[in-house]
Amino acid sequence: MALPVLLIACWSALAGQVLARNTFDPLAYVDPLIGASNGGNVFPGASLPYGMAKAVADTDSGSRQGGFTMDGAAVTGFSTMHDSGTGGNPSLGNFALFAYTSCPGGDINRCAFPKKTRAAFGRFRNSNVSAKPGTFDITLNSGIRAEMTTTHHASLFRFTFPSDGADEEPARPLILQDLTDLADSRQDNATVAVDPKTGRITGSARFLPSFGAGTFVLHFCTDFKGAEVADSGVFVNSRASTEVHNLTISRSINGYPLPGGAFVRFNSGAEPILVRTATSFISAERACEHAEKEIPDFDFTAVSKAATDVWRAKMSPIKVSTKQVNSSLLTNFYSGIYRTIINPQNYTGENPLWSSKEPYFDSFYCIWDQFRSQLPLLTITDPTAVTGMVRSLIDTYRHVGWLPDCRMSLSKGYTQGGSNADVVLADAHVKGLREGINWDDGFAAVVKDAEVEPYDWCCEGRGGLDSWKSLGYIPVQDFDYKGFGTMTRSISRTLEYAYNDYCIAQIAAALGKSAEKEKYLESSGNWQNLFKEDQTSIWWNGTDTGFTGFFQPRYLNKTWGFQDPLNCSNLDTASVCSLQNTGRETFESSIWEYGFFVPHDQATLISLYGGPAAFVSRLDYLHDSGITYIGNEPSFLTVFQYHYAGRPALSARRAHFYIPAFFSPTPGGLPGNDDSGAMGSFVAFSMMGLFPNPGQNVYLITPPFFESVNITHPLTHRTARIRNVNFDPTYKAIYIQSATLDGKLYTKNWVDHSFFTEGKELVLTLGRNESAWGTKVEDLPPSLGAYEGFTKRSGSLRRTAAPDLWRKTAAFKGQFGSLEESLGM
Ligand SMILES: *[C@@H]1O[C@H](CO)[C@@H](O)[C@H](O)[C@H]1NC(C)=O
Ligand SMILES: *[C@@H]1O[C@H](CO)[C@@H](O)[C@H](O)[C@H]1NC(C)=O
Ligand SMILES: *[C@@H]1O[C@H](CO)[C@@H](O)[C@H](O)[C@H]1NC(C)=O
Ligand SMILES: *[C@@H]1O[C@H](CO)[C@@H](O)[C@H](O)[C@H]1NC(C)=O
Ligand SMILES: *[C@@H]1O[C@H](CO)[C@@H](O)[C@H](O)[C@H]1NC(C)=O
Ligand SMILES: *[C@@H]1O[C@H](CO)[C@@H](O)[C@H](O)[C@H]1NC(C)=O
Ligand SMILES: *[C@@H]1O[C@H](CO)[C@@H](O)[C@H](O)[C@H]1NC(C)=O
Ligand SMILES: *[C@@H]1O[C@H](CO)[C@@H](O)[C@H](O)[C@H]1NC(C)=O
Ligand SMILES: *[C@@H]1O[C@H](CO)[C@@H](O)[C@H](O)[C@H]1NC(C)=O
Ligand SMILES: *[C@@H]1O[C@H](CO)[C@@H](O)[C@H](O)[C@H]1NC(C)=O
Repeated sequence: MALPVLLIACWSALAGQVLARNTFDPLAYVDPLIGASNGGNVFPGASLPYGMAKAVADTDSGSRQGGFTMDGAAVTGFSTMHDSGTGGNPSLGNFALFAYTSCPGGDINRCAFPKKTRAAFGRFRNSNVSAKPGTFDITLNSGIRAEMTTTHHASLFRFTFPSDGADEEPARPLILQDLTDLADSRQDNATVAVDPKTGRITGSARFLPSFGAGTFVLHFCTDFKGAEVADSGVFVNSRASTEVHNLTISRSINGYPLPGGAFVRFNSGAEPILVRTATSFISAERACEHAEKEIPDFDFTAVSKAATDVWRAKMSPIKVSTKQVNSSLLTNFYSGIYRTIINPQNYTGENPLWSSKEPYFDSFYCIWDQFRSQLPLLTITDPTAVTGMVRSLIDTYRHVGWLPDCRMSLSKGYTQGGSNADVVLADAHVKGLREGINWDDGFAAVVKDAEVEPYDWCCEGRGGLDSWKSLGYIPVQDFDYKGFGTMTRSISRTLEYAYNDYCIAQIAAALGKSAEKEKYLESSGNWQNLFKEDQTSIWWNGTDTGFTGFFQPRYLNKTWGFQDPLNCSNLDTASVCSLQNTGRETFESSIWEYGFFVPHDQATLISLYGGPAAFVSRLDYLHDSGITYIGNEPSFLTVFQYHYAGRPALSARRAHFYIPAFFSPTPGGLPGNDDSGAMGSFVAFSMMGLFPNPGQNVYLITPPFFESVNITHPLTHRTARIRNVNFDPTYKAIYIQSATLDGKLYTKNWVDHSFFTEGKELVLTLGRNESAWGTKVEDLPPSLGAYEGFTKRSGSLRRTAAPDLWRKTAAFKGQFGSLEESLGM
């Protein structure tokens, strides 16, 4: 017996290897549950790439922004619209379904209808949850199993009921659908109707966006299959009736929004009941059309297989060698990429606000997070989607008047800093996105950001433009009688506006508009006007950080104000640093960290900081003393800015300092909100070994975390390759000793986007010590100013603190909490 078994085992292991080699499946390394607890706020459910339908179980967690959580909170419903990774209020989660195997004694009024009371029936164990790209599956402690999958606008749920026990009620399943959303933001006069014959439920309600202004109306259409309809009706608060089939419900002045909705009861629970629900921003009829067209026959297996196939194709451009690599790193990597393809959402054809032939993308939530690495990653992996997004941003400018800085649920979202859509457009332009993009309008849009102040700059454009133009900075306590917004963040707005202007200059240069190019290059230097060269930074215990020269707030009369450079750092738990009226002069980040945000002129910044060695020790101090926090986006580029000081080895080491220590492939494994996939893209780019300086045609080279990486461009079909010679899976040999690009010696520490479009090959020879590779002035990435003080090799390699000495803090999560309070949300 022993021998044949062994043979079979050998044979199948071999077959497995052959299979693995021929059909590498990136989906094997995607875990959608990463970030489903500990404030990751990731949407872990079923969706197509950029899909409008996003089905998942919703919990009553305080951190339910993405719908589902694995933090002990109970399921209160199953809904079909979500955002991913966001802060702010919980987003969407409208028109939740809930299922019961039966109502006690057959009395519908003994089933729990309101969301709050349903929670008692929604307990589950984390081990009874599974998620794969395109499907989500949960079994509640009640024994009800809910599986879900989606098409672009519609979700298909399959509820399986526990078989009758001897002393239990006969199964007469009741499925309800309510008129709430995750944030309980429903406004007056929502409607719902249920067809007594078919059980079809349709309805509409007005809701609030989760981090923005205004309201939006959403419609839905739900159908059932799998069991005979017994009866149906509507419920209001805790009471229901099978006599009434239509309802218009108030928000109510107390205990709002008043629970209300419809339900259908079935004669049998022996077979699973399929529930198909679709939404539309246009009408309930349109929602029904989506559902009928996309899921005509309620075939769960077919719909989920189609979703899986779409995901596999979408993820296939990036292939890494799995040889010797810990699978948890592979899961980190591919799951990170996956999370960048959830939001923004493609609502083309679903925009009731204007009619246009252009695509419409929503859930730019927010561009302050997305511009840095998420949208640049998609420019490599899915340029067609980014082209659609850019067209949509420009079309939004055409119809709304300005590019958004944040946009969700067809509403204007709050601007966090600069007009960073300017960076998104520049990034797309320098990387050659052209197809169908009207760049004249695109240029007009970014120029409007720079030239015309909106009356209300809460949600678009820039504030303080008169001062910006006359003084060359945004003053603290500005006098602005033309436009109105939260008068904080004068330092971070100045730095971001300066970079935004550089981005405008680049588009101008490419379009041959030399006067505009000169003009915006000039104002892109405005960041220097807030640099106070004798400013020191003292810890609150009196210890001097030893660094001099920091950005500082400045008044209208040009005298300096003061903000402690450590305020709003990761270690400052006292300051208010978000969009509150009491916020500081830097947004969600310290002067220390914003002190590196001059992405276009690192050379001048390095000179101001005293040369490359001083720049490097300041950057080390930023990371090693816990001032920065990798869980918030301004930190991303600082990991790699050593490249500009001629120390690319230190960028590589810093990337390994953060990954995997701060990113583990577990539900609680993200260091903060995923922010629409921003964190995911940071992980993906860092591990891939090319990090973008967004808005510029520059990727900073570090060794990939894998022996090789192949990236096939979806449009040119050329494959870009990076290969590590002397690859060391223990990551001690992470320093580039020499490199070739397409077979020729290459010493520059960066490449441009043609690496991807033309499918070049970079071969990196690694060693355990820092080398001279990429360290000379001619090797450094482009910078507006000239590199100075690089004659001698910069200081010797210092040891950095061990990652495990670090503590994570939730400083910014707390600030989002108080933001909600201050905005009255
Ligand atoms: C949940 O999963 C555990 C195993 O992890 C299993 O024993 C149990 O039966 C499941 N519970 C339900 C309600 O399916
Ligand atoms: C809701 O309906 C009531 C009754 O028809 C009406 O008085 C009220 O103005 C409506 N509210 C809104 C916000 O439309
Ligand atoms: C109930 O709603 C349905 C569907 O919207 C509609 O056709 C019907 O006329 C409504 N009935 C009443 C009594 O309002
Ligand atoms: C990348 O492409 C090369 C050349 O086709 C191939 O030899 C290598 O196995 C590929 N690597 C991966 C990780 O797919
Ligand atoms: C893989 O990484 C995980 C998480 O860091 C670690 O717990 C595990 O021991 C590693 N496995 C191997 C084989 O090194
Ligand atoms: C967006 O949706 C429209 C309509 O459903 C579709 O035609 C288009 O291909 C989608 N765009 C992308 C990038 O997925
Ligand atoms: C003051 O705090 C800083 C930062 O935590 C620390 O590095 C330094 O050693 C402290 N100084 C004293 C005297 O405790
Ligand atoms: C400039 O304005 C600030 C803030 O109002 C004030 O404190 C300061 O004294 C003024 N400086 C001069 C020189 O007027
Ligand atoms: C931040 O500023 C406040 C005053 O607003 C000060 O009390 C606090 O010590 C500062 N925090 C740090 C870390 O410097
Ligand atoms: C690498 O650096 C270490 C410590 O500075 C040194 O002992 C060692 O000889 C170096 N290795 C090589 C190959 O240069």
